[in-house]
Amino acid sequence: MRLDKFLAACGLGSRSEVKLLLKKQKITVRNEIIQDGKFQVDKNSTEVKYDGRVLQYQEFFYYMLNKPAGVVSATKDNLNKTVVDLLSSKDFRADIFPVGRLDKNTEGLLILTNDGALGHDLTQPKKHVEKEYFAHIDGRVTDEVVRAFAQGLKMKNSEIARPAELYIDKIYENSETQLGTASDIRVIIHEGKFHQVKRMFEAVDMYVLYLKRLRMGDLQLDVNLELGKYRALKIEEIKILKN
Ligand code: URA
Repeated sequence: MRLDKFLAACGLGSRSEVKLLLKKQKITVRNEIIQDGKFQVDKNSTEVKYDGRVLQYQEFFYYMLNKPAGVVSATKDNLNKTVVDLLSSKDFRADIFPVGRLDKNTEGLLILTNDGALGHDLTQPKKHVEKEYFAHIDGRVTDEVVRAFAQGLKMKNSEIARPAELYIDKIYENSETQLGTASDIRVIIHEGKFHQVKRMFEAVDMYVLYLKRLRMGDLQLDVNLELGKYRALKIEEIKILKN
């Protein structure tokens, strides 16, 4: 492959940034300075160094983030911290993006990757990738609400939410919270419409106080991952996502 493509894939920057590094004589191939981006290398066997450091070729990166509230699911934002700002300088790359979106105040599982094909696959509506959320709801979630979710709902603006599975985990009575009755639930949706969980509850006149994503497809949020922390996905987890 071309040296400039190899260097970009190693995370040294865009093609134009890489061109500059080559011009500055920062790159050696088998200990010889190379300035031509078209120079051919074998990604698996040629020794390429940047500032004397051997580069390891890795095209795709996959991270699991436990997104905290207050950061936005974007790569750039003028006002807010973004989920890619949570990556350390060692792991940051300009081409990493979040797979799908969680609202600013939603927590939980978010995949960060530079694998565009995987990102596209997991967010394609016709794939119906399951997403499981935990939520704390103002008021009492009843079996009637469970049935309404199971049938599918008409949300605001007449948009239809497909059938979703709703499980009531706990009801807090007035006396327990002093704030009124509240419910802990888990909901599994098969699409990813804008503010979907919140709008589904709004459709039954209820309000989501707290929302956290627990699972995407067969990939569970690692319970040991603290809020705001991330880790590389394991090979088996990447396989699960690609299934
Ligand atoms: N549904 C929502 O309402 N918000 C999210 O962040 C995710 C799903």
